[in-house]
Amino acid sequence: MDSFVIDGGRRLSGRVRINGSKNAALPILAAALLTTEPVTVRDVPALDDIANMLRLLEQLGCAQVPQGAEDSAGVIRLRTTDETVSHAPYEIVRTMRASICTLGPLLAKRGYARVSLPGGCAIGERPVDLHIRGLKALGAEITLEAGDIIARAPQGGLKGTTIFLGGANGSTVLGTTNVMCAAALAKGTTIIESAACEPEVVDLAKILIAMGAKIQGAGTPRITIEGVDQLGGTDHTVMADRIEAGTFMIAAAITNGDMILDNCPIDAMLAPVYWLEAAGVHVQPVAALAATGVGRARGAGSLSLTSGSATTGAVGGDDPLRKCVRITTDRVLRPVEITTQPHPGFPTDLQAQLMALLCLADGNSVVTERIFQDRFLHVAELSRMGGRLVRQGPTVIISGVRELVGAPVMASDLRASACLVLAGLAAKGRTVVNRVYHLDRGYERMEERLRSLGASITRVEEKVAATMCTVPA
Ligand code: EPU
Repeated sequence: MDSFVIDGGRRLSGRVRINGSKNAALPILAAALLTTEPVTVRDVPALDDIANMLRLLEQLGCAQVPQGAEDSAGVIRLRTTDETVSHAPYEIVRTMRASICTLGPLLAKRGYARVSLPGGCAIGERPVDLHIRGLKALGAEITLEAGDIIARAPQGGLKGTTIFLGGANGSTVLGTTNVMCAAALAKGTTIIESAACEPEVVDLAKILIAMGAKIQGAGTPRITIEGVDQLGGTDHTVMADRIEAGTFMIAAAITNGDMILDNCPIDAMLAPVYWLEAAGVHVQPVAALAATGVGRARGAGSLSLTSGSATTGAVGGDDPLRKCVRITTDRVLRPVEITTQPHPGFPTDLQAQLMALLCLADGNSVVTERIFQDRFLHVAELSRMGGRLVRQGPTVIISGVRELVGAPVMASDLRASACLVLAGLAAKGRTVVNRVYHLDRGYERMEERLRSLGASITRVEEKVAATMCTVPA
């Protein structure tokens, strides 16, 4: 197992490109099961979860075809050539909950799916009852056997209907993507009410539409899908990762840095940007810069930038999901009160990272987690680094301190790991973040990219890290 050794206190500056979104790519790759024609997906990040999804798809008869000579990294070409195996087994599902994304596509295309039931995980229970409710409404017969969900389409195939997909905690992202994929090949019209509005759902709808599906309203709580007989191949570029972008924004802010993010999906980040600005972090669109010679090495002089107003559509290119933005920070961070919510509210996937920043704000912040109420494993670790945090149920009160202090800490899930890395970048002295395999599930080469921005961060084996817990005198 690997650890990160971070010597904190360095201002980060320079330029980094935001990668394609993990959470958009996972259901998009699974959608390749809906056709036997070739599907090309671009800007897929090189992450453990993606590798697991590709391994699962291969078992399901949807393998990668050789890349073209001109293909860059991140291009995945898939083709389903064998539809006989429709079982997503526990040995893969337990490594990646998003295996559940194959349920809807398999059921719709093959009329049968057997997908191991994902268990809970470090951030909570994570049931899949809404996925099952939605697919049953389309006529599927669903049973549970030996820990597997077994879904069968009725004679004559799935049938469109109106489905209320809301649960106790609101909408479900992957539940919506599963039902959307299944409804794309169902007979008649499906209306998903209380659908998840997350941008990743919209990105999946885009590729499905390009494959021939008839979908309206993705990105709103009511999605209408008119079933078609078959879907074809396509070529799609995955949206940029809004959670990675938010994590880099906080890395700039927590180190009082000055950073430029390329390919930033700012239009999908209005809530995080609003709350970061409330805390004293500036997120400014800037004119697109040439790809070379603009990032600055530490101490190599200032960047020459043209600031644009947040309302100017043309700044950094026309696509509001692929902007160029500059992150700077006020000297004093202000406390904020936030509650995580489904999109367009503040995302649960940035709660832990924001909490690291709020540890250094001038006053008391309040963070309430409404999506995964136990997603607080980072709280005790931040306390070990000198943060002052008190948890009461789904709420944490954070009293800002002047500085965090490096310590050995343990990552427990993907976003908690990112939070601890951020805290380590700001802390005085050395932080060792253990179990960074959690981080590797969602951030590609994080340490290399942070290093290119001036951080002192190294990946070492855990037993080596144990000997490096304090900075040598
Ligand atoms: N829920 C139910 N029943 C269900 C499904 C969900 O009660 O059948 C509840 C959950 O327990 C939770 C809420 O509904 O309280 C929302 O869960 P959702 O189904 O939306 O989560 P998900 O689709 O399994 C995706 C992301 C998560 C992200 C959540 C919420 C992927 C691969 N995962 O999970 O990402 O936190 O949406 O936005 O897209 C991460 O990247 O770190 C991560 C955990």
